[in-house]
Amino acid sequence: MEHLVVTGGGPLEGSVRISGSKNGALPLLAATLLSDGRCTLTNVPNLTDIGNLCELLSEVGVSVDRLGPHAISTRVTSEANSVARYELVSRMRASIYLLGPLVAKRGFARVSLPGGCVIGLRPVDLHLKGLRALGAEIELDHGYIVAKAPKGRLQGNRVFLGGPMGSSVGATCNVLMAAVLADGKSVIEGAACEPEVVELANFLNAMGATIEGIGTPRLVITGVPSLGGARQRVIPDRIEAGTYAIAAGMTGGDVRLEDVRLDHLGAVVDTLEKVGFEFSEPEEDVVRVRCPGPLQPVRTTTLTYPGYPTDLQSPLIAMLTKADGISVVSEKIYPDRFMHLAELQRMGADVMKEGSSAVIRGVERLKGTDVDATDLRAGAALVLAGLVAEGTTRLHKVYHVDRGYEDFEAKLTGLGANIHREIVSASYKRAA
Ligand code: EPZ
Repeated sequence: MEHLVVTGGGPLEGSVRISGSKNGALPLLAATLLSDGRCTLTNVPNLTDIGNLCELLSEVGVSVDRLGPHAISTRVTSEANSVARYELVSRMRASIYLLGPLVAKRGFARVSLPGGCVIGLRPVDLHLKGLRALGAEIELDHGYIVAKAPKGRLQGNRVFLGGPMGSSVGATCNVLMAAVLADGKSVIEGAACEPEVVELANFLNAMGATIEGIGTPRLVITGVPSLGGARQRVIPDRIEAGTYAIAAGMTGGDVRLEDVRLDHLGAVVDTLEKVGFEFSEPEEDVVRVRCPGPLQPVRTTTLTYPGYPTDLQSPLIAMLTKADGISVVSEKIYPDRFMHLAELQRMGADVMKEGSSAVIRGVERLKGTDVDATDLRAGAALVLAGLVAEGTTRLHKVYHVDRGYEDFEAKLTGLGANIHREIVSASYKRAA
């Protein structure tokens, strides 16, 4: 078992290079299933989620070549197996991204239903609604989604993908990947506009697809008979960048973020400026971030893009535990995504859950202790809290963090943090 051990200290200072986006790379990798040619992705983050998806792609006939720690080349060499096994899918819900490409390209897919997780039930009804609209016959069979395309091809159609929480990133990606090979024209209304969806659409067009309205909630796709190879650089991870920006400000530091797309972080910059942060003008994708004064309390709500991202909700709350006053953070995407509040309370934070909002009253100091990562963003948030806590914080279940933050402790150490990874025997049990 591994822990991250953080000792509270001084301000973070120096430069940190932002890795490629996990949530950008995963749909691009899935999209390579649609190609009859060779695809190459660069600036791919070196994360366990990426490794898991590459393993899954290999099982369904994709030859995956690692050209280095951050570059992957693929070619589909067999279409014999179109089953995504539970054992692999249960590790990562983004495996659902195989459904659309497999049923569109091969006419058949059997993909395990992804489980829920602590941040919510994570339904896939919008994914299935969209694929059914394109003519896929879908049934649930012993925990698997079985999708078939009558006569081997999907049919273009119009579909509204907005759900009770607004648009869905995953459903938009899945249905978009299916529509590009469907016969005729499709219109996806209520599409997600996240940068990762934009990049997927650009990649599909580079492969020969015809997608219009990229970046808007209305995507118009004219199906094509086949797609070729393409090469694409994965965009910088906006959530990783936001995490390090918050770490810089909450420690009173002064950090240069390298390879960052500030245009993907509008709502985050706006919220952090209200806290007292200062961002420099980007110079060749380098941005300086600091917070010279005391942390001001804020009120914000997580929303679909371009609103404040839910994945930066827990790091924001970790910081606000030290702000001068009372903050309120409302969670509109995953109303139950607050497991980290109990862990922060263990560190002395004055936080409470009011419905789908957290109310945070700033305190003078946090105290280091043992805490559990409950999801990858909450794990990162607890490390950030440990950076400003008195004494030592030991983060358990570090595997969550390894899913989404490349070289997390090395990057923080490079900024002056006192953090290391300890390997302990499996028998270690946190005191009750
Ligand atoms: C993506 O998940 C991200 N994951 C999540 O990041 C992120 O939190 C989420 O988008 C929201 O931005 C990847 O990109 C791999 P959604 P996704 O479909 O696609 C509801 C991280 O930390 N919904 O946009 O699964 C859903 O319950 C992860 O990197 C339905 O109701 O999210 C949620 O309330 C965590 N029916 C809302 O929509 C559906 O069929 C948004 O979910 C699908 C979703």
